[in-house]
Amino acid sequence: MTLAENARFAFTPDLTICRVLNGMWQVSGGHGRIDPTAAVATMFAYHDAGFTTWDLADHYGPAEDLIGAFRRQLAARHGEARLGEIQAFTKWVPHPGAMTRRFVEDAIDVSLRRMGVDRLDLLQFHWWDYGDRRYLDALKHLADLCDEGKIRHIALTNFDTERLAVIVDYGIRIVSNQVQYSLVDQRPAARMAAFCAAHGITLLTYGTLLGGLLSEAWLGRAEPSRGSLATISQQKYKNMIDAWGGWALFQQMLSALKGIADEHGATIATVGLRGMLDRPAVSGVIVGARLGLADHIADNSRVFDLTLPPDDLAALEPVLAQSRDLMQVIGDCGDEYR
Ligand SMILES: NC(=O)c1ccc[n+]([C@@H]2O[C@H](COP(=O)([O-])OP(=O)(O)OC[C@H]3O[C@@H](n4cnc5c(N)ncnc54)[C@H](OP(=O)(O)O)[C@@H]3O)[C@@H](O)[C@H]2O)c1
Repeated sequence: MTLAENARFAFTPDLTICRVLNGMWQVSGGHGRIDPTAAVATMFAYHDAGFTTWDLADHYGPAEDLIGAFRRQLAARHGEARLGEIQAFTKWVPHPGAMTRRFVEDAIDVSLRRMGVDRLDLLQFHWWDYGDRRYLDALKHLADLCDEGKIRHIALTNFDTERLAVIVDYGIRIVSNQVQYSLVDQRPAARMAAFCAAHGITLLTYGTLLGGLLSEAWLGRAEPSRGSLATISQQKYKNMIDAWGGWALFQQMLSALKGIADEHGATIATVGLRGMLDRPAVSGVIVGARLGLADHIADNSRVFDLTLPPDDLAALEPVLAQSRDLMQVIGDCGDEYR
């Protein structure tokens, strides 16, 4: 299986990515027991199919170690030259405190060691409390580590538009911001996307499939209780659906999506992914992967063969018109974490 040419995107001048990234939060617990051997074997299946870009974090359980193991096995099988095919985007999510050069560099060194790389492709930085402006100290040290070669590019996750502007004004070169973005949660379209487009920053999206709730598997199903949901990802996005408009409205959305999907011989999930890939400023969508437990490689590869004329998604407008404005309910991107 090879992905269509439009699967690849020049994320930066020196990094080309697969526009559907493999999300590794799912290996960190709460998504079924992950066996490391089976997980690495499945990473080969993704990679060989063309899904070469991984999204992970320092705190996603063994995710950084799995990248390290995958790289070692790939080099052993095919030679070190092929390691350049992998893009591994990690995050640093520090506890609040003083952001000294030593503290920042020590954290980056841990990720380098675990992943078995000399340089991080992308370091996505998260910060819990905007009242504590030491996020600028941390970013200054990260920028220095970039200049010194330990990090290729600096990115953010869950920053709002206001602070993204503060960081850009401070002179830090940011290449992307990772935010929740789906047909249900369209907050990035309000302010974030335009700011990013104007400043050469792209968006990597998560929650685009609502933990798998945005799929045929949930069409026509009665509202699930929190306890009956199989993963913490589904629990998280069920809360988002409740804030947005509730289960009955979500069923209307799934029905409308099913109509669009059927016209294209596609699935609800791939229509949901394509819809976000086509949005301004979006460079990639991240799809959570329960490595070794379930995969959707074949279906998700078809997203690159799917073309959605703008009119098609207009069928969702009557549903969206009944939903709440999540900018009002929650706030801008990332405010759900603060
Ligand atoms: N920066 C942040 O704060 C943040 C927060 C959350 C997530 N993330 C990142 O985003 C990634 C995505 O995680 P998420 O929690 O948002 O989940 P998601 O991507 O919305 O949903 C993932 C689930 O969707 C299902 N799925 C995938 N392809 C499908 C298809 N074609 N048809 C039907 N179902 C399909 C799978 O369910 P099954 O496995 O059950 O089949 C999979 O586990 C994470 O791994 C992480 O890398 C970042």
